[in-house]
Amino acid sequence: MSRTKIKAILLNEQTDYAVTIKGWVRSFRNNQFIAINDGSTINNLQVVIDFEHTDESLLKQITTGASLQVDGTVVASLGKGQRVEVKAEKVTLLGECNPEEYPLQLKNKPSLEYLREIAHLRFRTNTFSAVFRLRHSLAFAIHKFYNEKGFVYLHTPVITASDAEGAGEMFKVTTLPFDNPPRTEDGQIDYKEDFFGRATNLTVSGQLEGELGAMALGEIYTFGPTFRAENSNTARHLAEFWMVEPEVAFFDLKDNMDLAEEFIQYVIRYALDNNRDDLEFLAQRLVEEEKSKPAAERSEMGLIEKLEFVLNNKFERITYTEAIDILLQSKPYKKKQFQYDIQWGTDLQSEHERFLVEKHFKKPVIVTDYPKDIKSFYMRLNDDGKTVAAMDILAPGIGEIVGGSQREERMDKLVQRMEEMHIPQEEMYWYLDSRRFGSAPHAGFGLGFERMVLFVSGMSNIRDVIPFPRTPKNADF
Ligand code: 4AD
Ligand code: MG
Repeated sequence: MSRTKIKAILLNEQTDYAVTIKGWVRSFRNNQFIAINDGSTINNLQVVIDFEHTDESLLKQITTGASLQVDGTVVASLGKGQRVEVKAEKVTLLGECNPEEYPLQLKNKPSLEYLREIAHLRFRTNTFSAVFRLRHSLAFAIHKFYNEKGFVYLHTPVITASDAEGAGEMFKVTTLPFDNPPRTEDGQIDYKEDFFGRATNLTVSGQLEGELGAMALGEIYTFGPTFRAENSNTARHLAEFWMVEPEVAFFDLKDNMDLAEEFIQYVIRYALDNNRDDLEFLAQRLVEEEKSKPAAERSEMGLIEKLEFVLNNKFERITYTEAIDILLQSKPYKKKQFQYDIQWGTDLQSEHERFLVEKHFKKPVIVTDYPKDIKSFYMRLNDDGKTVAAMDILAPGIGEIVGGSQREERMDKLVQRMEEMHIPQEEMYWYLDSRRFGSAPHAGFGLGFERMVLFVSGMSNIRDVIPFPRTPKNADF
């Protein structure tokens, strides 16, 4: 008989039918009740065994973490807490799990920090299985959204010579030997000797290649891993993260903001409609976590309430200049509670972003028209000559979740900006060609996927929403 998933059994209204289930033991009580989970849902299935007719040695091996096959019948449950249970006719041990050694058995309620140290096993907990089912659903919803809108999913390269953001935070990719690489006369590593014949790196963003696609296909999006060699040990930064980057021909900044807002709301709605059990579990987890915080730091809304609020309220839209004015008028500024100074021209730090979103507007905020000097070369210069048509979306509890802009489509302005920022034109001939031949207004943005998962899951550390986090010194598996 083929295997039936626990989710299907729990959703099925019927009883009194035969099943074969396979899964892992979560608990075993009174030599009789096994709570078994197969990953298809947050909920365990209760299996009832007839211990008087079960081998003593098998009973000993039904321990937390062991993997089992159960052949039996789905029956209405007499006990509280579950509608149905499985009356076992045959229990087969597939893989034992020594309770003296199993880390998840040894610690009663393992902390998230501890689970991060045993990230290879943390999928087996309720919290992480919920997070990763949710992450999967969000990824699926992203593809569904863009597919329904007719966008082309464009695969941009992971290895590239370009530094899309011009921020120099790149991991080098080289086939040259580490210990004794060939060197030029002035002692520099000679990348001409390399496989690609020049210095290459892992991509920081698929945007520039995405723009090339948009200028022919009209509407594209990328969704893939991107890399930043920034040595920042924060709860919001990873060295390897996934980014979603739509790029649309004939779009201006307002179109771009509208798309981003509709996109974020669509994806959240999908999760609420399709991952209810997991979200309710994560909401409860958050309630528990918040209990350990001082009252002033606890969020006013529960997780599901917060998500519904985001669906039902338009995002606030303000310019950078307005944001600075609000911050300069704010209590924390006047009381010198901000760590970083703020004046027109400086970048917003996360403390400022969080003030705007969590204290001032209490909803997601789109900040536009930043000073050109704190943004990338490709952003479209506004008529004031000082600001660019940039937009960042700031989310409660997260800070920046989206960064994007209308792109500079005018060749002369783009070349001038590249000169000012010392970006060699000859290395970017392919990008400039998109402006040389049939240039058109266009815009796009990048959404940090893990920050989105953080927001929807209510988790507080970005390492807990990606299966295998890559952070400084964290790359075993
Ligand atoms: O603001 P960023 O750097 O923008 C770009 O890369 C543009 N090329 C995107 C575009 O216009 N197509 O990054 C975009 C988003 C940020 O808003 C943030 O959500 C996320 O990517 N992000 C990170 N997420 C996790 N770890 C990091 N180190 C991140 N750096 C950026
Ligand atoms: Mg940014």
